Amino acid sequence: MATTLTINGEQKSFDAPADMPLLWVLRDVLGMTGTKFGCGMALCGACTVHVDGKPVRSCMLPVGAVRDRAITTIEGVGATPVGAKVQKAWLDLEVVQCGYCQPGQIMSAIPTSTPRWRAISAAAAPMCGFAPRSSRRLRSVSRRSVS
Ligand code: FES
Repeated sequence: MATTLTINGEQKSFDAPADMPLLWVLRDVLGMTGTKFGCGMALCGACTVHVDGKPVRSCMLPVGAVRDRAITTIEGVGATPVGAKVQKAWLDLEVVQCGYCQPGQIMSAIPTSTPRWRAISAAAAPMCGFAPRSSRRLRSVSRRSVS
């Protein structure tokens, strides 16, 4: 079935069943591999994208449920002011460990225009064994004018 979505401000048209998870559309149909697969059960957050500015787990979200909604992925979040600041802080603070779940952590950390380190830490914690270290580093994100 032909579907058009707005992803990172661009219209993308493709054929996919309405019940296909958004994650598979992004990765397998559109080739946008920045969003990662982890648990596949909406638990870990590795697949987090934004729908109308709010973080959602794309592994369990049918693509048919997000028509006419604005989708932002890790490939596009750096174009937003907060996204750019969080990505810069991520690099400056060397938050990345193996790197696999970092897109999901970043997307989970930007639910509002004024992220707080506790929310960032809570969002990141389920995804990564390095969460305590990341949390310490991420505290400085809010101290360094992310808001
Ligand atoms: S892969 Fe979606 S929450 Fe884990």
